[in-house]
Amino acid sequence: MTTTSKKNSAERVAAYDALGPQWAQLLDDERDLIAAMANFSALIHDTFGWHWVGFYRVAGAELVLGPFQGPVACTRITYGKGVCGSAWKEERTLVVPDVSAFPGHIACSPHSRSEIVVPIRARDGRVAAVLDIDSEVPDDFGTVDVHGLETLCETLQPLFE
Ligand code: SME
Repeated sequence: MTTTSKKNSAERVAAYDALGPQWAQLLDDERDLIAAMANFSALIHDTFGWHWVGFYRVAGAELVLGPFQGPVACTRITYGKGVCGSAWKEERTLVVPDVSAFPGHIACSPHSRSEIVVPIRARDGRVAAVLDIDSEVPDDFGTVDVHGLETLCETLQPLFE
């Protein structure tokens, strides 16, 4: 495991630059949301080596666990709770440099030190899912990740009903 954050490094910028076309090729004309989310999480996990990469889908007043890579995780998160539920409620990407300092953080793994959650909108504009990423490295997410992950997540939008 890398213990130093590579946030906003040239290396990370280059990784996102390479991921764009790679992901477009992998997604191709696949229209199954679960298949796309499964490969998406594997690609991001493999590329950056983060502890946990996965999705939670909106189901009524909760988020329900979707495809992911990493250790087992909690299956349901209430609207407004934790980092995921907060990103859903606030309808914006949340970057948490220190998870222990985030009120109400839901600790699925003791190894998680920092986190980013990106809401994903369906075609009608409502938040339909979130991408959640946990890192074992403190303060591991920066503006490069916000831009890179939001751009990648936009490609999933047409797959939501
Ligand atoms: N930490 C998240 C819960 C999900 S796990 O990290 C996979 C949260 O506070 O919402």
